[in-house]
Amino acid sequence: MKRIGMLTSGGDCQALNAAMRGVVKSLSYSGEPVEIYGFLEGYKGLIYGNFRMLTGADFSGILTKGGTILGSSRTPFKLMREPDENGLDKVEAMKQNYYKLRLDCLVILGGNGTHKTANMLREEGLNVVTLPKTIDNDLWGTDMTFGFQSAVNIATDCIDCIHTTAASHGRVFIVEVMGHKVGYLTLNAGMAGGADIILIPEIPYDINKVVEAINKRSERGSKFTILAVAEGAISKEDAALSKKEYKKKMANYKYPSVSYEIAEKIQKKSGLDVRVTVPGHTQRGGSPCPYDRVFASRLGAEAGRLILNGEYGFMVGYRNREIVKVPLEDVAGKLKMVAPDSDIIREAKMLGISFGD
Ligand code: F6P
Repeated sequence: MKRIGMLTSGGDCQALNAAMRGVVKSLSYSGEPVEIYGFLEGYKGLIYGNFRMLTGADFSGILTKGGTILGSSRTPFKLMREPDENGLDKVEAMKQNYYKLRLDCLVILGGNGTHKTANMLREEGLNVVTLPKTIDNDLWGTDMTFGFQSAVNIATDCIDCIHTTAASHGRVFIVEVMGHKVGYLTLNAGMAGGADIILIPEIPYDINKVVEAINKRSERGSKFTILAVAEGAISKEDAALSKKEYKKKMANYKYPSVSYEIAEKIQKKSGLDVRVTVPGHTQRGGSPCPYDRVFASRLGAEAGRLILNGEYGFMVGYRNREIVKVPLEDVAGKLKMVAPDSDIIREAKMLGISFGD
């Protein structure tokens, strides 16, 4: 008999349900009896003992469903060691609930912050297996996270829709893409959607180079330009600021997001009409794409195998086209970013895409 606690933490994404279904199915089909305790709303559920016992029926019909049947929340890692408003020691509370339920292990699905806490629980002596979820694809130790491809599809659809209206009106359009501090989503959606300029956090932009690229297109007879801008895009001047100086600038920031600042600068420097589209959380919504359904199911199945073997303390990841187990201590606290000198950036530039650098 295996007693498994499961939780989804941080921002949700597509295929969380598919991944959990994969874990439970692989355990069930192994013949090993299992009890699944689903903690609600991420680590909060584990801290406050808020859980639901789940049966096979809970995992039926959820392969195609977006969101998470367990709910999710953000419980910042830096606050985990701080008592809550009633003085509760959160880490101790999580351990107590784990031991009270006599769990064999926790299956934790999450991104960067989630992995820091998962690793802390491992250090505290709990058995943990994790699965890499995030639309940002910024998790160290895995080439791919589930949710990413679905979000690329949605952001690409958005750029596709913008294309026709941009062409009719001869305007400059900015599509702002999620991804937090990392540019994978913008880079991939930008290339897939045929964006002319792609601005990502890893390659700070020079606004004059951006305007230059737009003007060059006009000179060549293109009436419109589309920019895919990462929500974390940063100018060369801002990138040169100290952390303190940058924080100060952002404290008085007058724009809703970076794209509006970039739009204003382009408008002023070029005199062109600029519009901003922010698809926002739609990028995390809807059904997982087929790739993510398969990918998350495979990762879930492999997590089931680790649990059956009693191999704990790993994230199930994907490297060089193989599913691998990555030690949690290697994953926690590291960000995977786009390398400015990577092949894909070089190739995008060969296709005439400007990164504003
Ligand atoms: O990490 C996933 C993500 O969607 C990021 O791309 C984005 O910056 C952030 O979460 C948004 O967070 P929230 O849903 O808390 O606004």
